[in-house]
Amino acid sequence: MPAYRKILALESSCDDTAVAIVEDGRRVLASVITSQTELHAQFGGVVPEAAAREHIESVNVALQAALDQAGCALEDMDAFAATLGPGLIGSLLVGANTGKTLSLITGKPFLGVNHLYAHVASNYLESDLAPPFLCLLVSGGHTQLIVVESYETMRIVGSTLDDAVGEAYDKVARLMALPYPGGPVLDRLAASGNPKAFALPKATVDGPYDFSFSGLKTASARAFEKARTLLGPDAESAQVEALQRDMAASFQHTVVETLFEKTVRCAQAHNLSTITIAGGVSANRGLRQRFERFVQENPAFRLYVPQMAFCTDNAAMVAASAYVNPITDDIRQEVFSRSLTRP
Ligand code: KG4
Ligand code: ZN
Repeated sequence: MPAYRKILALESSCDDTAVAIVEDGRRVLASVITSQTELHAQFGGVVPEAAAREHIESVNVALQAALDQAGCALEDMDAFAATLGPGLIGSLLVGANTGKTLSLITGKPFLGVNHLYAHVASNYLESDLAPPFLCLLVSGGHTQLIVVESYETMRIVGSTLDDAVGEAYDKVARLMALPYPGGPVLDRLAASGNPKAFALPKATVDGPYDFSFSGLKTASARAFEKARTLLGPDAESAQVEALQRDMAASFQHTVVETLFEKTVRCAQAHNLSTITIAGGVSANRGLRQRFERFVQENPAFRLYVPQMAFCTDNAAMVAASAYVNPITDDIRQEVFSRSLTRP
């Protein structure tokens, strides 16, 4: 397998335009992320057409900023990489075409990357992680338990049957009139709320490692509405805030316990002592703390979580993934970039 020592990668699958330069698949020389959160917050969610246009505006600026940060020139790169899917098609095209153009200009290879493989690879950054391990992938679009057998071979052993965890966070926040994206907002509120204030249901599903979050989302919204109505129309803002904190804490507690229990059971059943968490929701403090406590109490297990900057969408993880899976062939790239499905 060729080793492309210095990889410049682009990520534009959703609403962040990111460019990074990574050495030997692990050492981050530059990581630039241009967020579109403000643009989409006014609509309460990502507007695909607006996202694509914004990527076009930002990509060259982010590219130059990454080169400046690393103190490198395009000619110093050994390969260029970009996320090819899954994601918003108009957005993906911006990163992919930029990466392919840079490859043509410099005569260096272009490597296509699967966004979900990239999230898994985020834990290789600035760390000594090596397969085999179990990855709990929790993002705005996906919730999966993935057995990473080797750098190239991954097997999905569990997934959500309906909403992704990040999606449930965003929807519950929206129903509580909180801003987008809801995950970080609820996480912050949860820290000072009572996790036992609301008894919320944990879904029972058939598959031992599958999840379901849509029932929890609806139950949380109903419980909040009911409690908010009881407060009455003239409630003081401090009272409403206290209610939001308690609901955030109760929702987060239920989500974290569900994810934690299934992940540990899955790791044990597959004889895996290394657990990683990846994807936007891996930034969640409640989730990180729950797993950190577990490994402290069970030293036979090891835990890897990405640095905060590499949890939500970024391009450093794309470079890390391209390093371990350097796919240059057009047809393989096309197949590779599709959503991961269970074998
Ligand atoms: O990985 P990501 O940036 O994009 C996707 O690939 O989907 O994940 C974004 C998701 C959003 O739903 C966002 O609300 C959630 O990650 N998120 C969080 C936190 N930070 C981001 N959810 C819970 N707690 C957080 N601290
Ligand atoms: Zn993502």
